[in-house]
Amino acid sequence: MHISPLLLSFAVGAEAPAVDFRKEVLPILKGRCIECHQDPATNSGKRPKGGLRLDGKHWILEGTRSGPVVVPGDPNLSTLYELIALDKDDPDLMPPNSDGLSKAEVETIRTWIAEGADFGDWIGAPAPGETSPDTPKLTPKPTGKLPRIVQLYIELGEGLTPCTPNQLAAAAGEHGMLKPVFPGSPLLAANFPSNQGRTGTDHVRGLAGCAGHIVTLDLGRTRIADEALAVVAEMSRLVKLDLRQTNITDAALIHLFGLNDLRSLNLFSTKVTDASIEVIAKLKKLETVYLWKTQITPAGIGRLRELRPKLRIVHTPDLPAPERGGPTEDESGRRRRR
Ligand code: HEC
Repeated sequence: MHISPLLLSFAVGAEAPAVDFRKEVLPILKGRCIECHQDPATNSGKRPKGGLRLDGKHWILEGTRSGPVVVPGDPNLSTLYELIALDKDDPDLMPPNSDGLSKAEVETIRTWIAEGADFGDWIGAPAPGETSPDTPKLTPKPTGKLPRIVQLYIELGEGLTPCTPNQLAAAAGEHGMLKPVFPGSPLLAANFPSNQGRTGTDHVRGLAGCAGHIVTLDLGRTRIADEALAVVAEMSRLVKLDLRQTNITDAALIHLFGLNDLRSLNLFSTKVTDASIEVIAKLKKLETVYLWKTQITPAGIGRLRELRPKLRIVHTPDLPAPERGGPTEDESGRRRRR
């Protein structure tokens, strides 16, 4: 058996490890691997390939659901080494569809693992709930010149640990879509683009795991029932809620009481009545409410004007475009009238 002189020297502790993670291994990961194996928060919400993140020490050591990918001291048991050492024409080669890493790079990684996979002082993307000096502060510093909404998102996201990929995947379920409100923000915009008509209360319940991160939620044209709003009640940072063309009633709105950051509420074409006026009036930060085609009477609108003179009350067909493509208001309004 061939024993690497490097391994030997490390074993007797005679010399410092020959491979310096930060100088030699990290550039390979950054250049060839991390684009596909990183935090969804830094990658437009895209999940890491194979469920594996290589952007932080914690994540590299955590491996995947099926186990570790690096076994310190044993390259041959380390999937991460195994997959870069495959033949060039092997379909499992990493990076996929490429000529693979150079011989020297493969050897660097092999040696690094054989020597014990020492990360030195590198942490990279932190473990959930931790911080790392290596993570660039992605949140831009507030300058006062940023659009008001961006400014608000920066403030609301301050110090918030992003949802983990597993939490995100569980929250999105099969049909949901959760994406950062801007690159690097822990805050999320949530909707159900491909499944609107079939999305029901259970789908909304799925969002609970990341509830505190959601700032915009589009449930327009879904089949949700009033109870779905119990989950929405947990979205303590919610800024914008779209409930247009759903079957929700006054009973749903009771759940919104605690949403102290809610700025925009769309109730277009719902069964909400004058009974909700007091509830709407109590949403302290609310700036705009859409009430066209609800059962709210002119008297109700008048009452709301009185209670909240500065609130923008839209009770004409003057609606914002839905967050994503879909039928226009007119079309879907007509369709619903049956
Ligand atoms: C273009 C995207 C892409 C790049 C770049 C990439 N990978 Fe992957 N990686 C994948 C995909 C896709 C899978 C899942 C393959 C599967 O499940 O069949 C995967 C899976 C893996 C796995 C297996 C995870 C498990 O299930 O145990 C390891 C280890 C891995 N990659 C390491 C690397 C390394 C190391 C690099 C850089 C040298 C790299 N990958 C670069 C896309 C990529």
